[in-house]
Amino acid sequence: MTYRVLAVNPGHNGSVAFVVDGELVFYAEEERLSRLKYDGNPFRAMLQVLVNWPVDELVIGGTSNELSTLPWTNENAYAALVRKFNPEVKVTMMGHLHHLAHAAGAFYNSGFESAAAIVVDGSGSYHREEIRDTGVPTGGFETESIYHCSYPHEFNALYKRYSDGNTNSLYYDNGIQEFDNSTTIVKAYEAVTDYLGFHVIEAGKTMGLAPYGKYDESLPPFFINGKGNKNWLIPRYPASAHIDVNFAPHVKRFEPSRDWHSDGSLVREIDCNMAYHVQKETEDQVCALIQKSIDITGETNIVISGGYALNCVANYVYLERFPDCKFYIDPISHDGGTAIGLAKLAWYQYSKDDVRREMKSVYLGTDPDYTQIEVALANIPNLTVSEAAPADVAALLGAGNIVALFQGRAEGGPRALGNRSILFDPRVENGKDIVNRVKRREWFRPFAGSVLKEHASEWFDMRTLESSPFMMYAVNVQEDKRAQIPAVTHVDGTCRAQTVAQDDNPHYYSLIKAFQDLTGVPVVFNTSLNLAGQPLVETVLDAITTLFNSEIEYLYLPEIGKLLTKTNT
Ligand SMILES: [Fe+2]
Repeated sequence: MTYRVLAVNPGHNGSVAFVVDGELVFYAEEERLSRLKYDGNPFRAMLQVLVNWPVDELVIGGTSNELSTLPWTNENAYAALVRKFNPEVKVTMMGHLHHLAHAAGAFYNSGFESAAAIVVDGSGSYHREEIRDTGVPTGGFETESIYHCSYPHEFNALYKRYSDGNTNSLYYDNGIQEFDNSTTIVKAYEAVTDYLGFHVIEAGKTMGLAPYGKYDESLPPFFINGKGNKNWLIPRYPASAHIDVNFAPHVKRFEPSRDWHSDGSLVREIDCNMAYHVQKETEDQVCALIQKSIDITGETNIVISGGYALNCVANYVYLERFPDCKFYIDPISHDGGTAIGLAKLAWYQYSKDDVRREMKSVYLGTDPDYTQIEVALANIPNLTVSEAAPADVAALLGAGNIVALFQGRAEGGPRALGNRSILFDPRVENGKDIVNRVKRREWFRPFAGSVLKEHASEWFDMRTLESSPFMMYAVNVQEDKRAQIPAVTHVDGTCRAQTVAQDDNPHYYSLIKAFQDLTGVPVVFNTSLNLAGQPLVETVLDAITTLFNSEIEYLYLPEIGKLLTKTNT
């Protein structure tokens, strides 16, 4: 009998996932639909499911089950909405299982028969425990976990680290408890991100700055024997962390008026070195977790999720340090992906099925409504439409134009993978500066490259990877190719690479192939179709709006063979 599970993740990556008979058929993040960055309550995303499919079970995740209730019926708002479509819907609260949700998503998506699942996260569900042999209560937020996973739904928590920054924190280490209130991996990263003047959730900016730094012996260590340096790092739970600059007085906070984020000449060496140190030290900490997971599970299949799994620089390091392991880094490893984990977990618990269903695609969002083009053309005088083939668009790119690419269902997760992308010529020497200015991003931030899969190893050192369809690794550009694709080669010689096979995305493949036919380079510069601080676009109208709020002139719609051009600018 068909069984359909809708899972909702409230939180800063508010999202829903919908699973029918074990297959993930829909995933969306609320901010894409509401256009409100980090929108936490995914009602519009829920409605996308509810108006199209029946729902048998609603699973509510997040990081707590203590959600406020509605007046009159005194029920949870998500449950109330679903009951309007199915009064008999089964409602399951799983907000206390945040790390299990991360682990389940990564494990089920990986297709591995069994695996060790590592979760590296800011702060998950709050758990209360008693200190062993004393009965003294303590507790903390989940921060780092290791599960041993197998089908249909076996998830054995073998290592759990809880922290709350105020009271003693709890380690549950393979049955052994330890107590400590030191800073965790993600909190160290958050502290440096905050120090650099970014919001703590913008860790990717710190990662982009890190290669500009170097080892600096004047900086205190962030970690000592695997524990955060308490004198140096001040974690705040659940949502921030700080550096205690009094501990190292030469590390002064930048003055807010000194805007080095837009002007590279103002950046200090110490800022870059802080980013460098936290990147290297947290990589080492995760490597220690990987070794621990191998030791206590015996597995060489390793899946990683939680916010730190988006650190594509660290992900590449694991491949070098653990060449005998097979890794699956979940592409939707931020909190949004917990909806997928919960929906699949609930379905496997219902069905007791043991069929593996790896996630082959993240093109899981809404379908385009191309009738919106007619509306736009009727209302915007300086917008024209013309027929276009891949070779025409390749010629535009080769002539130095920025082209937006829009097609198919929207990508889940933070990476644009050719359905909601902005493309450029990777051969342009100062291409990074040009597109950072157009997108209004910080000067130092690098850009990704999409490469035809069959040419990936010629251009990039893929280490043990056969492919990288979800752009989860910053790989080394082959040394003899770096000068050919400077716009996507970061200062340390790396590039966040997406391999594109014909089956992955036929239209995107054809376009990159046309660019190769024109230039001899099977790589295009790829960045998300949005401007700084905005969610990735969802609809055709969102994409057209982005054109008119920026210098971008072209929007290519390959499914209908059209090119929209902004004129008179
Ligand atoms: Fe999380």
